[in-house]
Amino acid sequence: MTDDELFEKINKIEIRESKERTVKSYVLRNNVISPKAERILKSYMGEYGLFFDDGYLDYSKVFGNDNPVIIEIGFGMGDTTAEVAMRRPEFNYIGIEVFLQGFVNLLSILGDRHIENVRIMRFNAVDVLNHMIADGSVAGFHVFFPDPWQKKRHHKRRLMNPDFLHLLATKLKKGGYVYMVTDWEEYAEEVLELSSSETLLNNPFGGFAPPVTWRPITKFEQKGMESEHPINELWFERI
Ligand SMILES: C[S@@+](CC[C@H](N)C(=O)[O-])C[C@H]1O[C@@H](n2cnc3c(N)ncnc32)[C@H](O)[C@@H]1O
Repeated sequence: MTDDELFEKINKIEIRESKERTVKSYVLRNNVISPKAERILKSYMGEYGLFFDDGYLDYSKVFGNDNPVIIEIGFGMGDTTAEVAMRRPEFNYIGIEVFLQGFVNLLSILGDRHIENVRIMRFNAVDVLNHMIADGSVAGFHVFFPDPWQKKRHHKRRLMNPDFLHLLATKLKKGGYVYMVTDWEEYAEEVLELSSSETLLNNPFGGFAPPVTWRPITKFEQKGMESEHPINELWFERI
């Protein structure tokens, strides 16, 4: 692949977005590829990056092993993704993020630290799940501090809605989990409520979950704590 083809593929999401008018859970901003980003993309995309494609991923081929696969949606700058992957090396991770700067940041962390059990994609997670992830194939989903879309008229943009929760549930293996954390209390309550109507999921804790030991504090969690927001953890399992 030439460099121009690589950069065009990285920005494929912009081309797709300009043709689609559906409600999105994100806003694309700052998408110019800087010279530094170009260098990082050229160095590491081949090893750690995946491109959007219409066909299910073969995880054994992608990772070179059969370890269970966790998918993280909206990893932001990606520091937490890298840290979790190092703390729990018995899993493979696929990180999905649309934010170019965050994507490139995680790519450079993976390359610099030689973290072999993570692959990342710059695309809308809804499309990735629908087109590239087979039903019943995922061991867990991580959704850390999804945008709360605070205004009532923006609630329709929230990632965690009934359809998306159902989509996550269908992609999980039996016993697989959805792990969401948020500092927006009303969003946490809403997702807890939604989960009780999703027949494919069970909440082993009845309400909010206790924190896990292996999740470091994320960038957005830090901001939430500075504003004295409560941190709520939600953990559901595929029946
Ligand atoms: C509030 S940030 C949280 C980032 C990180 N998880 C943290 O805790 O610091 C939410 C991120 O989700 C990403 N995002 C939202 N909807 C997405 C989607 N449908 N597909 C991929 N990424 C998405 C946004 O670009 C944004 O970077």
